[in-house]
Amino acid sequence: MILSLSKQIPSASRKIKLQWFSVTTAPYSHGHEIKLTTPMPEVASFKGVTSYTDLYNYSITNSNHFWETHAKSRLKWFEPFHTTSECDMSVGKAKWFLGGKLNVSVNCVDRHAQTNPDKIALIWEKDELGQNEFVTYQQLLEMVCRLANSLVDSGVRKGDRVAIYMPVSPIAVAAMLACARIGAVHSVVFAGFSADALAQRIKDAGAETIITTDQAVRGGKVIELKNIVNAALVQCPSVKRVFLSHRLGKSYARTDKDIDLDEAMSKADKYCEPVSMDSEDLLFMLYTSGSTGKPKGIVHTQAGYLLYAMMTQKYVFDYRDGDIYACVADVGWITGHSYVVYGPLGNGATSVLFESVPTYPDPGRYWNMVERLRINQFYGAPTAIRLLLRYGDSYVKKYDLSTLRVLGSVGEPINHEAWEWYHNVVGNGKCDVVDTWWQTETGGIAITPRPSSLGDVIVPSAPMRPFFGIQPALVGEDGKELVGGDSDGACCLKTPWPGMARTIYGDHERFLDTYYRPYPGYYFSGDGARKIENEFFQITGRMDDVLNISGHRLGTAEIEDILDEHVDVAEAAVVGVPHHIKGEEAFAFVSLKEGVSKQKVNLVGELKSDVRQKVAAFAVPGQILISDALPKTRSGKIMRRILRKLAAGEVNDLGDTSTLADPTVVERLAAERLKMK
Ligand code: WT7
Repeated sequence: MILSLSKQIPSASRKIKLQWFSVTTAPYSHGHEIKLTTPMPEVASFKGVTSYTDLYNYSITNSNHFWETHAKSRLKWFEPFHTTSECDMSVGKAKWFLGGKLNVSVNCVDRHAQTNPDKIALIWEKDELGQNEFVTYQQLLEMVCRLANSLVDSGVRKGDRVAIYMPVSPIAVAAMLACARIGAVHSVVFAGFSADALAQRIKDAGAETIITTDQAVRGGKVIELKNIVNAALVQCPSVKRVFLSHRLGKSYARTDKDIDLDEAMSKADKYCEPVSMDSEDLLFMLYTSGSTGKPKGIVHTQAGYLLYAMMTQKYVFDYRDGDIYACVADVGWITGHSYVVYGPLGNGATSVLFESVPTYPDPGRYWNMVERLRINQFYGAPTAIRLLLRYGDSYVKKYDLSTLRVLGSVGEPINHEAWEWYHNVVGNGKCDVVDTWWQTETGGIAITPRPSSLGDVIVPSAPMRPFFGIQPALVGEDGKELVGGDSDGACCLKTPWPGMARTIYGDHERFLDTYYRPYPGYYFSGDGARKIENEFFQITGRMDDVLNISGHRLGTAEIEDILDEHVDVAEAAVVGVPHHIKGEEAFAFVSLKEGVSKQKVNLVGELKSDVRQKVAAFAVPGQILISDALPKTRSGKIMRRILRKLAAGEVNDLGDTSTLADPTVVERLAAERLKMK
């Protein structure tokens, strides 16, 4: 079973040629001039640009003029910038719009509240079906100001880090924007992370302030967020204050650090003077997994990030004034930052906040919402599409989805079956499907079929082409760019763009080691890619020990660290296996300490629960194989290549095992593997 799945789901395959990707159904665009459908008034000042291709080329060859023009026309500045960029890819240096002063919350809220106060900024699609809350730009401004003043009144200052641990809600958006207003740096931690994971992130950021919610409600289930925060606080003595907002308003264990957010906001002044921020001051940090156990606090700054999020939201999704735009991601991930909050609000859009899950109360939830709210753009994850298509077409067909124009996909490769279903059933064959490739580090969408390919030109299941200002390159192991042919290489970006990450919080060396030193002169994404027809980019999956589980990035080392801590465990190794819904799932190999019985009752259950408690539910390995030893080379290195094969059930195709210290270990593991499902 696993074997046949691995052909369908590409996300687990590392640098493997994917037949699955070959395109037979769509015509190519060779020699075809592509028009830009979303109006871009700035084009008038780009000399000689008459087609989409000209425009893209201009964005690369005249990158500074391209971005300077957009930054001037799309952002509201307190003081103009004097230098468009100072970047050097060879040393990982990036600065944009130097000398400029602005405030991101003013750009996302005040200016729209002035011109269009009653326009709906946020539509909260609450977990309870049919319960919406609407927040106008005017109301959002007041929320942001009151929250910002509450922070200031309690002592939060410019440059302070504030941890936000909240479910998708208007108050979470207001918390992010309130930080931006006073120049505090937010670090949103996904509210599905455990107390330990939260504590680790609070400590790394040196956050003294937490903003949280008493409960989260997802799919009808209540999660006691405040209790998780209380558990994290035990490990974080430096936290001075915890702002608590209310979802259900049930009782919770109060600590002396708690400040009731509703109360504080009701007492606070309803206007807060925005702090004038330098373009390169920190806006936020967001933790993401790497190949070691320690998550990286990716840092984004003010102007470049905001402009890039706005431009991509507008042009990738063909966002137009009056549209209702829905990105169903959680605000705890970069997708929520760029495409629920900063991009759409910067553009003055109406952004839908989705609190629920795709199957609650039934698998028609998304489409019920699209019909009710008359949504024009829908941006979701392949894992959800794969899940929903298994329930059949009827849950889609019973709703009127005629308002939809663009369907987006993000987080992992979208397999053919899911792409076709999304396109034909959800989009009724009429919507552009945009498979968007990007990362926490890129700040916004980097490779995407739109705005460049329209109508008849689409390659299913591939992000296809770079966005403006992005120049991808496939680089070989020798560090040289691969040109021509359908070769696989490291997916790198070779020219700077405003949304690029600036550093890893507190660890610039790690930043350079991870992204800029592997292939000098290039930003290295960690992904592999190839080109079909020497033109269209396809992503082949991570090249490092990072898994992609339901679109969530997770380092295998993070799970291994937890398993290793168990008293009975000698050693643990985690690899990814294809999963028909999640795309990929963790598979753990665990060897036990001397004297511990493999039959020990509920050991697997204990290990799974440890991962759930200490990392997050999505990180829990689907299967754990307990053994007396792991396969190692004579120099003591665990042979992951073999473990990957074993995990995938390919026990008869393990490749060369001659370099192993003890080849019988593999035979025993293979026998154990065959006994599992
Ligand atoms: C990693 C980034 C992008 C925001 C959500 C995840 C994988 C992302 C695609 C895609 C194939 C994709 C990559 C990337 N990924 N989008 N369209 N096709 N793979 O952000 O947590 O920073 O993860 O997700 O492996 O490196 P993230």
